[in-house]
Amino acid sequence: MKNTVILGAQWGDEGKGKIVDLLAENYDAIVRFQGGNNAGHTLVIEDKVYKLHLVPSGILYPGKKCILGNGMVIDPQVLLQEIEALQERGVDCKNLFISDRAHVIMPYHKVWETLEENLRGKQKIGTTKRGIGPCYADKITRIGIRMLDLVNPEVLKQKLSDIVPFKKQLIQAFGGENDSISENEIYESYSNYGKALQERIVDTSALLEKIDASGGRILFEGAQGMFLGIDHGTYPFVTSSNTVASQASIGAGVSMKKIHKVMGVIKAYTTRVGGGPFPTEIEGGVGEELRKAGKEFGTTTGRPRRCGWLDLEMLKYVHRLNGLDAVVLTKLDVLKGIHPIKVCLGYEYQGQRLESYPSDTRILDSVNPIYEELDGWEEDISRCLSFADLPLNCKKYVQRIEEFSGVPVEIISVGPERDRTIFREL
Ligand code: GDP
Ligand code: IMO
Ligand code: MG
Repeated sequence: MKNTVILGAQWGDEGKGKIVDLLAENYDAIVRFQGGNNAGHTLVIEDKVYKLHLVPSGILYPGKKCILGNGMVIDPQVLLQEIEALQERGVDCKNLFISDRAHVIMPYHKVWETLEENLRGKQKIGTTKRGIGPCYADKITRIGIRMLDLVNPEVLKQKLSDIVPFKKQLIQAFGGENDSISENEIYESYSNYGKALQERIVDTSALLEKIDASGGRILFEGAQGMFLGIDHGTYPFVTSSNTVASQASIGAGVSMKKIHKVMGVIKAYTTRVGGGPFPTEIEGGVGEELRKAGKEFGTTTGRPRRCGWLDLEMLKYVHRLNGLDAVVLTKLDVLKGIHPIKVCLGYEYQGQRLESYPSDTRILDSVNPIYEELDGWEEDISRCLSFADLPLNCKKYVQRIEEFSGVPVEIISVGPERDRTIFREL
């Protein structure tokens, strides 16, 4: 299989970063195709921890092309800081490229987002406040600034003079603070970001075509997770981009025929940061145990993640939309000592079993998950190197996921480090 998409199959933080880092060794280009620095991907390499927000998780391999695709929204200041921090640690970033079509997060996006969250009242999403939603909104409204504008000072100046006064008025009208937003200061700083990033801003779609044509392999790195996706997630408690595999084609600028394999990453349980429905959430008790054992605190905002049981009804929906070739199961080590382990196999609503994943969050809020209980295990599995090494109940857990979803579990992660991984020959 030549080109592969790695996709979050829950509400984000499934451990995609670790898996992309691990697989990147066998690919020539690693591409992010949506989202921005709302993502937080943690890589643990021996005693070093890298937290990436914009830079693809393939950056630790010198010589691999790392690409920020056109489907992303990019805060250039954050990107420059991330590059600098990596370079200070000896990571070579010369092969990092940014699509000239990617949209730019501007200071007024961040100010507007705070106002928007306040306006939502009880429907507050609990966003990461990185300006993601307002930046995508401007893209769709067709008043966005793109990376290519940063390296064309005249164009940037003109666009800012059209947009900034309008944004300032809007912010003021909704009671926001607009003194910090100055057209001249934005021009100065953003044209400087353009200068600093100039060499990297290219037509990445054309670059990927060349890599592909010369037989190179491409790994598409998803951010967030399917249930945070704008079309198929738990709307409105979602992010503002599509997180499904087909977005890899749009957001990287490659033909969908160039995608040969789709892998969905799930945690052995479920987590969610921010507001929104979560049918299998466990408040207190085992939920607390999972948060502690799994260190479930957000990489980007540090917020505690809500925890709950594994939900295979969700996986079924992910498979329907993405045609999964394989599941990657992470954090299986965290379930150690939990008895029994519950797995959700469907939802009941007003006494009826639902046939498919509901679109209405009000329904999702009041469904009763249908659980199956499985026996747990006491052993520490974090040093198991093969499937055969796992305790019997642990194997049964994995097999139940495969049986219900009809998708093979190809990789099992039993710790944050690269070598805490079981690859299965299937
Ligand atoms: P991502 O956003 O999907 O890349 O996931 P995050 O990096 O935000 O969150 C996953 C967290 O779990 C990180 O701190 C990883 O180091 C850690 N992690 C990944 N896989 C495993 C695993 O198999 N076991 C344990 N205990 N931790 C893991
Ligand atoms: P990774 O790539 C977990 C959540 C936020 C909020 C909602 C909307 O690390 O898995 P946004 O700032 O995107 O408008 O916030 O989406 N969210 C994530 N949750 N992991 C992420 O990324 C997330 N990116 C956004 O908490 O609920
Ligand atoms: Mg994360």
